[in-house]
Amino acid sequence: MMRPKSVICPVQTGWVRSSCPLNPHLHRTSLHKGRSSQSIFYPRRGAFSTSATLSLKQQFPPATSNRIKDTAIVWKHPIYTEEEIQAVTVAHRETKCRSDKFALGLVRLLRWCTDRATGYRNPEGDKKIADNFVMTEKKWLIRFIFLESVAGVPGMVGGMLRHLKSIRQMKRDQGWIESLIEEAYNERMHLLTFMKLADPGIFMRLMVLAAQGVFFNAFFVSYLISPRTCHRFVGYLEEEAVITYTHAIHELQARKLPSWDNLPAPDLAVKYWKMPEGKQKMLDLLLYVRADEAKHREVNHTLGNLDQQTDPNPYTALYHDGKGAIPSSSPDARKPVGWEREEVI
Ligand SMILES: [Fe+2]
Ligand SMILES: [Fe+2]
Repeated sequence: MMRPKSVICPVQTGWVRSSCPLNPHLHRTSLHKGRSSQSIFYPRRGAFSTSATLSLKQQFPPATSNRIKDTAIVWKHPIYTEEEIQAVTVAHRETKCRSDKFALGLVRLLRWCTDRATGYRNPEGDKKIADNFVMTEKKWLIRFIFLESVAGVPGMVGGMLRHLKSIRQMKRDQGWIESLIEEAYNERMHLLTFMKLADPGIFMRLMVLAAQGVFFNAFFVSYLISPRTCHRFVGYLEEEAVITYTHAIHELQARKLPSWDNLPAPDLAVKYWKMPEGKQKMLDLLLYVRADEAKHREVNHTLGNLDQQTDPNPYTALYHDGKGAIPSSSPDARKPVGWEREEVI
């Protein structure tokens, strides 16, 4: 069948706009669901995209049954207020022991490697160097997708190992498993959201596959040896995630990413974060994702402060007095780098 005639979208640099007579289901996966019944954005073929132009259809297939419309988001996301997502700041937890230093060193090494792989440099560095690594919308998406594909691993590994331990020892887990698996789910939602905006090619998919193969196994073994160090490692990783998303937000606010100025957030994101009317643009999406990363930063640094064998998870604990400095599920800015054990246990 012939492809529909395509034209470059006038407000985009990396997308092709075309009418879609091939399959009406595609409109359900469109960025513009409910906003336009006439058009859909397809990723344009290029270095980032070596797969078929219509592969968005395969990544997010429509319902396969006439009776089933969609699947529900069962793991509900807490509703963030505008003040909460705006209050997120870059923060760093000072290292206090050798295992903290090891975790931080490892994160810095991984960051160095990822920066080189995705053509990225921190803006705080040498201005001349930063000028040579100007970020475009496409480069940001490559970085987001790569990072999010890795970020979904630790929570799942930690949750899985604690789940198996609970069964093996026939003991309660004290609420850690839920938080860890929910974190992994949340990171996967970040990935799926960015996948709605991009179409990674075969090279990118191989990179993700290789990274997952290595990282999953390394984290699995590390979590068996020292779960505390692993949570600290994730806490430092999330510090870097907040820095990266803050950089992207500043670039968008400075109008350096013109094709994202008025880009609506994918419907998946609007539904998942319950983004309010008038706050459903790309900028809002990045603010929501950054708030999630800030929450992971706080949660993992807090978990890294606890006794891994005996302490309950303060994020699922029910306290006697129900008041005071108790962690919540909101992107609370009070403790950006975690709660100390004596504050929560
Ligand atoms: Fe994430
Ligand atoms: Fe995260």
